[in-house]
Amino acid sequence: MQSFIQSLPKAELHLHIEGTLEPELMFQLAHRNGIPLPYPSVEALRAAYDFDDLQSFLDLYYQGADVLRTEQDFYDLTWAYLQRCAEQNVVHVEIFFDPQTHTDRGIEFEVVLNGIHRALEAGRTKLGISSFLILCFLRHLSEESAFATLQQALPHKDKIIGIGLDSSELGHPPAKFERVFAEARNAGFELVAHAGEEGPPEYIWEALQRLKVARIDHGVRCQEDPELVLELEQRQTPLTVCPLSNLKLKVIDRMEDHNLLWLLEQGLLVTINADDPAYFGGYLLENYVACVEALDLSKEQVRQLAANGFKASFLSETDKARWLTVVATSL
Ligand code: HPA
Ligand code: ZN
Repeated sequence: MQSFIQSLPKAELHLHIEGTLEPELMFQLAHRNGIPLPYPSVEALRAAYDFDDLQSFLDLYYQGADVLRTEQDFYDLTWAYLQRCAEQNVVHVEIFFDPQTHTDRGIEFEVVLNGIHRALEAGRTKLGISSFLILCFLRHLSEESAFATLQQALPHKDKIIGIGLDSSELGHPPAKFERVFAEARNAGFELVAHAGEEGPPEYIWEALQRLKVARIDHGVRCQEDPELVLELEQRQTPLTVCPLSNLKLKVIDRMEDHNLLWLLEQGLLVTINADDPAYFGGYLLENYVACVEALDLSKEQVRQLAANGFKASFLSETDKARWLTVVATSL
């Protein structure tokens, strides 16, 4: 089964590039930039990755991102992730970045964007990995800050396919960003949003009806509202589910309790993703393996999940069809 998962071409649709910052690279960049870290060693830092909930993770995640200062830092971060993708046969990625995390501490928007973009181009030419970039607004910040960030993105529409919404979910409902998402839609961006990770089903309804998103990131709490499950099934709105993330952030107590298979059986367009692999203990392959082991998924269910990754992507219909054929014929 592990070699079958390895050999399947896979797409990743829910990945925060800042969440791929491995402790080793964090120490390297801290040293290169002359930044002291509040941990004596890589091991001590890893040991601190013991989270109670989303917020306790976000606190460390934003602290870790402080070592990212130069365009080369963002290039190195992204390139390291793409090399992992190549090792795991992840052939297409749609990754998030959080510009406000960086611009709010004085790093230029273009420093962040160009570093990530150059690495994605190298991934295309040297590794054969196709990619799109999605800019996320931090929902704990104001609507005004999101509008300012959208303005910064407009001259770079050729490098950014979509807009998303992440960070602290509870207390920051999607409706807070209805106007800025409308403007992003008018500008031609694809739209996605985190909803129903820790937040209630109502947040998923809001993301669908008020933000008009094409995909829901996480969305696992839809199960609490049968009408919502039916709506997601009828619309075939993709859910980008992140199993190891849900376990590490205590959305579930045990992987055996994950509702991924239940959602799949309801006919929802469920995909598997890594979220913040450096913090949650696994990249895309490890997320698939954890699900297979805990939920006893069949080979055909794994194939379905891999196919869903391409169906739910922003690839052209031609590219989707090409990958779906490879997935369908993988042995
Ligand atoms: N949820 C919300 N915000 C995030 C996440 C997440 O899983 N990862 C990085 N930022
Ligand atoms: Zn996420």
